[in-house]
Amino acid sequence: MAEKKINRVLTLELARVTERAAVAAAKLIGRGDEKAADQAAVDAMRRELNALDIDGEVVIGEGERDEAPMLYIGEKVGKGGGPKVDIALDPLEGTTLTAKGMGNALAVVAMAEAGSLLNAPDVYMEKIALGGGFPANLVDLDADPGDNVRAVAKAKACDIALVNVCILDRPRHAEMIAKVREAGARVTLISDGDIAGVIHTTDPSTGIDMYMGTGGAPEGVLAASALRCTGGQMQGRLILNDDGQRARAQKMGISDFTKKYSVEEMAKGDVVLSATGVTSGSMLSGIVHHNNEIWTDTLLMRSSTGTIRWIKARHTNPSKFHIDG
Ligand code: FBP
Repeated sequence: MAEKKINRVLTLELARVTERAAVAAAKLIGRGDEKAADQAAVDAMRRELNALDIDGEVVIGEGERDEAPMLYIGEKVGKGGGPKVDIALDPLEGTTLTAKGMGNALAVVAMAEAGSLLNAPDVYMEKIALGGGFPANLVDLDADPGDNVRAVAKAKACDIALVNVCILDRPRHAEMIAKVREAGARVTLISDGDIAGVIHTTDPSTGIDMYMGTGGAPEGVLAASALRCTGGQMQGRLILNDDGQRARAQKMGISDFTKKYSVEEMAKGDVVLSATGVTSGSMLSGIVHHNNEIWTDTLLMRSSTGTIRWIKARHTNPSKFHIDG
């Protein structure tokens, strides 16, 4: 009889999945080719997922079935015999960062009991996130950004000038950025990579308290999966601009098109998330090739135990990574 739960061994196996995707993508760092870097990560992640003892289904993937040949939403992954799980993945979060040789690119995958992760179409999502230790619903997507930062300053009992909000540097966020600054708080702009942006709020050493703004919905579900493990609050609301997008959402079981999803509504049950650095950033070191070894740096977290592991690995047999294949 097959094991039905995500056990410890499987949890650790997930680190190998992102390690290998990250190593594959890293081969394309600085080559100016987003697509090739993404494809390398996709191929490696798919190969590793298919070697796991899981009966998995991709619920957040590289796109919908007609637009993505691999790791599309609905694709079955794994050897089949183990627990039934949902898989959310972003084999290369930060394709542009990788292509330009910039920091903070990651390979990310989350695994949860089947039916636990929000099935979201590949559209934009409005997001607001805050690390752990604050009263529930302290901030809200519909509140004025200035009011949100004032609420955080009050809850932290600190000068508002010390509240730091991470926001994607996009013209669409100009008004939000202005309002946060008008309120007297700081803004840390990132050029890409809002999964890391959200995870930063959970680690005081990053100096980031909040994440605000609009990014990809798949990245939103992955960020919620991380917060489910680390603690912290988040709201996400899909942006469904036309009938086509609404129809795609409906096909995935979404009927309330303006719903604000909480962390638990995006990721419930036993959730495990692994992220490996491709390029060095504020959270993880990137892939290093040294003396015929490959070094990887991975963050592995699990909601049921709340354990967060930073796994630095030296791989002394690079040929196992198929990096030339
Ligand atoms: P990719 O790795 O798929 O390029 O995504 C990078 C990213 O910055 C995400 O982190 C973010 O959610 C999204 O793109 C924002 O989208 P856009 O670049 O269209 O503003």
